[in-house]
Amino acid sequence: MPRLTSAEAARARSRLLGWFRRHARKLPWRQAKSSYAIWLSEVMLQQTQIPTVIPYYLRFLAEFPSAAQLAAAPLERVLELWSGLGYYRRARNLHLAARLMADEHDGNFPRDFDEARRLPGVGDYTARAVLSIAYKEPYAVLDGNVARVMARLSARRGSLPEPRFRRAIEDHLDRLLSRRSPGNFNQALMELGQTICLPRSPECPRCPLRRWCRAYALGKPESYPQPRPRRQAEKWHLATAVIHRNHRFLLARGLDDGLLDGLWNFPSALGKSRSKALARLSEKLRAAAGIPIAFGEPCQKLHHSITYRSIQAEVYVAELPERLRAKGCRWFAAGKIEQAAVSQLARKVLHQLAREGPKVRPQRLPGAS
Ligand code: ADE
Repeated sequence: MPRLTSAEAARARSRLLGWFRRHARKLPWRQAKSSYAIWLSEVMLQQTQIPTVIPYYLRFLAEFPSAAQLAAAPLERVLELWSGLGYYRRARNLHLAARLMADEHDGNFPRDFDEARRLPGVGDYTARAVLSIAYKEPYAVLDGNVARVMARLSARRGSLPEPRFRRAIEDHLDRLLSRRSPGNFNQALMELGQTICLPRSPECPRCPLRRWCRAYALGKPESYPQPRPRRQAEKWHLATAVIHRNHRFLLARGLDDGLLDGLWNFPSALGKSRSKALARLSEKLRAAAGIPIAFGEPCQKLHHSITYRSIQAEVYVAELPERLRAKGCRWFAAGKIEQAAVSQLARKVLHQLAREGPKVRPQRLPGAS
């Protein structure tokens, strides 16, 4: 693969930055002045698409405009505001890191790479992104979009998990990086990958880097890079109990295996089959409430994914004659659930029940009267 000469790299860089100045979308974090606000955007954008992030980002910043305000908030409130964004470990780490930023760095994201990496939840990617955007430190960032753009520029096959491919792309990226505007350069490459250099149908005629793109010259840009081998989705069943009384619902913290940790959820259990999930749910409820509970037919079914788990959920509705006390559970008034730190799964169940109502008559819990 022939490398770009340094004169070519300079021209390509300048084209890219000029294009970004003219065409960059007006995303809220692009006006951010503080390293805190930039860090917050990068954490939210780690596993979540831009249109989803925007309203969360605005709400979060409105309530916590500084690291000190975030640090002083109860975790429960942070989780409430995060609720629906997924990957909740990010919210916990954000809260912990805000405390360190407030206590040890005057409320700022540290300027030093090693110090930044010591913050909970700040990996190589986030440290590079924040340092380049907030402080113009010359770090390049490499995400899936940037990797695709770079693989096409150099017509390199492979995929990011392969060390040789990654090294070659990093090397190329480092030569192209703008030392004067590293933050804009990084965001310009992301923007190019998000809006023009698309995985399946790149819009090459609009691309500012077309002239330097070998994949374009070879006529098949979409065949670079090779698709990444995907982790196979695991199929799971979930039994979920909607237990209610007088317009109040019983919610439990978390799910299984540390999933949805700390979030409120309808009491649920995972299993490899429908009957195993249901048996585990009954067992969990018996352990928490101290009474045996038997369920009949599910009232609702829905599909939900949590990372690589593809989950078929069966919902069992049970109306109680009396309020039950159960360890790790809390009763929520129906109107309060939406504002609580509830999982996306619980929201789905609630919305589906509100839309369709239970399809079979609710069960009565034996032994709970
Ligand atoms: N994805 C991650 N960081 C981003 C940023 N700063 N702008 C757009 N997309 C991003």
